[in-house]
Amino acid sequence: MEQADLIWHNGELVAWEDAKVHVLTHGLHYGTGVFEGERAYDTDRGPAIFRHQDHLDRLFKSAELYYMPIPFSLEELRAATHQLISANGLRECYIRPIVFRGYGQMGLYPLDAPADVAIAVWPWGAYLGEEGKREGVRAKVASWRRIPHDSLIPAAKACGQYLNSVLAKIEASKAGYQEAILLDPRGFVCEGSGENIYLVRDGVILTPPSAAGILDGICRRSILQIAGDLGYQVAERDLTRAELYLADEVFLSGTAAELVPVREIDDHAIGAGRPGPVTGELQRVFEDALHGRDPRYADWLDVVRMPAPAPAPLTGSA
Ligand SMILES: Cc1ncc(COP(=O)(O)O)c(C=O)c1O
Repeated sequence: MEQADLIWHNGELVAWEDAKVHVLTHGLHYGTGVFEGERAYDTDRGPAIFRHQDHLDRLFKSAELYYMPIPFSLEELRAATHQLISANGLRECYIRPIVFRGYGQMGLYPLDAPADVAIAVWPWGAYLGEEGKREGVRAKVASWRRIPHDSLIPAAKACGQYLNSVLAKIEASKAGYQEAILLDPRGFVCEGSGENIYLVRDGVILTPPSAAGILDGICRRSILQIAGDLGYQVAERDLTRAELYLADEVFLSGTAAELVPVREIDDHAIGAGRPGPVTGELQRVFEDALHGRDPRYADWLDVVRMPAPAPAPLTGSA
């Protein structure tokens, strides 16, 4: 992976290679942590974090669901992220805040272990590749079901929960596909291993509801709003596996992957087997929103103030 110079760790900026934890860190053993995935884009107004407040809100909600008070305020984490991007001199980056139960207490009762907080930023290209964004990806329905509401908390972005996505991703990759699609415990469509999913049928955009156990994606909220603004009819309802195969278009969305068309599922071509017009239009407007090119969505951007460039050296005779 690409690196940056500095990582924010419990209130301090430390060198990338010094941001370390003890091997008896609670979260390492039991997955007791929560995190976010965000991106900053290079815009005309400077590097801008997409829907920063919404990501931090979700981080605090995920932590609360796992009884883990975060020892910093939301405003402190927001400021720390700005400071970190600016100190690393990055115009565009992926942002990974994580809060996890640290060192000092083992055993399954975690409430006496400290909550450690770190934020890392680094340059990271589109998760499913630029070609995937352009041409569409091939996906496979995983044999692993998405975690049920009565075992874990699908709405939380919690570290241990990602073992579910990891198994599905490995299965899909080993079988030669780029992404896995998980069904919920009832057998309805849920989401990708790290993305929400949508289908288009007769011009209507359909996506599974939160009761299906999805993560309430920040991109999903944005895309549903954009779709409505563009005049599309949108519905959140349970979808069957066959509805995916029979769709005119299917696409995924997530912060790491952005908006990605799906051209094939389980070796069935979706529509004409290439990205369709609705996906293309949504992708264009979404990308414009991310990069600050659409004034309708300017409020979604949290602009980072970068240090002023050093003044040019004075020239001329002394
Ligand atoms: C399991 C899962 N679903 C959906 C998403 C999409 O969420 P967002 O749009 O907030 O990145 C992600 C990515 O964070 C994810 O990991």
